[in-house]
Amino acid sequence: MAGNIPQPFIDDLLQRVDIVELIQGRVPLKKAGHEYQACCPFHTEKTPSFTVSPKKQFYHCFGCGAHGSAIGFLMAYDRFSFPEAIEELATQQGLTIPRDAQFETGPDRQPLYDLLTRVAAHYAQQLRAHPAASHAIDYLKQRGLTGAIAARYQLGFAPPGRDHLMREFGSAYKDLLHEAGLINQTDGRTYDRLRDRIVFPIRDGRGRVIGFGGRLIGAGKPKYLNSPETPVFHKGQQVYGLYEVRQTHRQPDHLVVVEGYLDVIALAQHGIDHAVATLGTATTSQHLHKLYRTSPRITFCFDGDRAGREAAWKALQTSLPLMQSGRQARFLFLPDGEDPDSLVRTQGAAGWEAQLAQAQPLSTCLFNHLEADLDMRNLDDRAQLAERARPLLSQLPTGTYRTMLQQALEQRVGVKTQIPVLRPERTQRPVRRRHRVSTQTMPPMRKAVALVLQHPQAAQHTLPDDWEQLRIAGVDTLQQLITQARQNPNITSAQLVEQTEDPVLRDYLARLAVAELAVEDDAAAQLQGILRQLLETEHRQAHADLLQIPPGQMTATQKAALRALYGQ
Ligand code: UTP
Ligand code: MN
Repeated sequence: MAGNIPQPFIDDLLQRVDIVELIQGRVPLKKAGHEYQACCPFHTEKTPSFTVSPKKQFYHCFGCGAHGSAIGFLMAYDRFSFPEAIEELATQQGLTIPRDAQFETGPDRQPLYDLLTRVAAHYAQQLRAHPAASHAIDYLKQRGLTGAIAARYQLGFAPPGRDHLMREFGSAYKDLLHEAGLINQTDGRTYDRLRDRIVFPIRDGRGRVIGFGGRLIGAGKPKYLNSPETPVFHKGQQVYGLYEVRQTHRQPDHLVVVEGYLDVIALAQHGIDHAVATLGTATTSQHLHKLYRTSPRITFCFDGDRAGREAAWKALQTSLPLMQSGRQARFLFLPDGEDPDSLVRTQGAAGWEAQLAQAQPLSTCLFNHLEADLDMRNLDDRAQLAERARPLLSQLPTGTYRTMLQQALEQRVGVKTQIPVLRPERTQRPVRRRHRVSTQTMPPMRKAVALVLQHPQAAQHTLPDDWEQLRIAGVDTLQQLITQARQNPNITSAQLVEQTEDPVLRDYLARLAVAELAVEDDAAAQLQGILRQLLETEHRQAHADLLQIPPGQMTATQKAALRALYGQ
């Protein structure tokens, strides 16, 4: 399950993370006895059945059955993939994920990252030193940018000439430069992709340079040239400026998404240091995952023209499935002919803030768009609105926000509408009320498994001889749990569940991990008692079975077994 992330690292990570703190940051929890409770974020409910156990480091919803560890929660709530969830927790804890060389699947990308970093540094140095760089510097100055801001974004200069990089780095780097998208090859000749341009290094979340944008100095076409897709550069995933924002704000309370490199930089020049840009592409849901992971409030900024309105509508649709409670999306349309760069330069930071305050909430933008060609006094048009809104609202995660939008729609349409619940994510199960499994009726082996899950320290004690020879179903599972618990005396319930590969078994264990167990005070003694009793039952059963066989028909093995039962 862990792919190439070593299991011991995952264990260590889960040991450090506090699931209560993690969830508390997203869903307000209330203390209830030893546990914490909330209304479940994964289905709609009025009374809280979502519980988080600090001891077990585990969450569980008794309503819909959603459950898991801190990793599972991030996967379900933030819709992270498994490696993304690990990465997020590791970053929070200030840890770097060790890659298990043995399991490393892809080729080593480090040489590519190293080269990109060196090229960025080289371009930056050329901006200061190359004789032809003066018009680049003049251009940047004329656009109101200072040396300090150029340094913050590591702006550089790609000198003119066909083979500057090859001469600088040497032909040994030819393949790597090509792989990095920095040179093109035609007819056996190589050409620098960026020539006589101002360059904008694009950094990933960890600050590694992964690609470049290059702007012509002055007018001409194409105005920008960007790195092509490479093994480390994926436009649909990367957000320009996010690393730089996080350098000043660990958790910015607000992000503004603009269109261009120079919009980001001009805003930063005026002290507005929470702007980021997509790289000349539409906003993807991968972009949005990244952004919402950084901040709960996002304003998308667009031109006021038709293209801008279309881009906004696309971004709005992409946002819908991510609009969990606590998140906010707003849409800002700038006056015709303006972009954030021109606006902040002519009107200053205050002018920009005033514009920002005009941003429309998602709901306004949504209804404005859907009603643009409708006459809301007209009944047919109102019905039309309901038809259009329904599939969109159904993409919202269930929760307060969805309920409120649904109410807003009902008010506009004038009747109640049914919004189908559409939950595409994998964690969602049909909402079926489940009850806490009670141990009163629980078969003994299941109880033993539940005991070890909930009190892993019980496994540290000596258990009755021969328990592993029990033939009752569940012994394998118990054995596996006990081995894990013995290998790691600090293991939590969540880890025991998480380490189970089989999804069906994992689901089953997750429910047992929260079953009500009447543990008097000594879980170890209780476990020993159950196993002893099981051994005795099997013993008696074996005896009874043997006695069923007429003595004359007994095989040698059966006779030996009978003798063994009598202890002879
Ligand atoms: P803009 O044309 O709005 O550029 O493109 P800009 O950022 O305002 O730049 P200036 O102010 O004219 O210098 C917005 C973004 O679209 C992508 C770039 O990422 C750019 O920042 N783009 C634009 C390209 O990739 N190629 C182009 O030729 C133009
Ligand atoms: Mn511009």
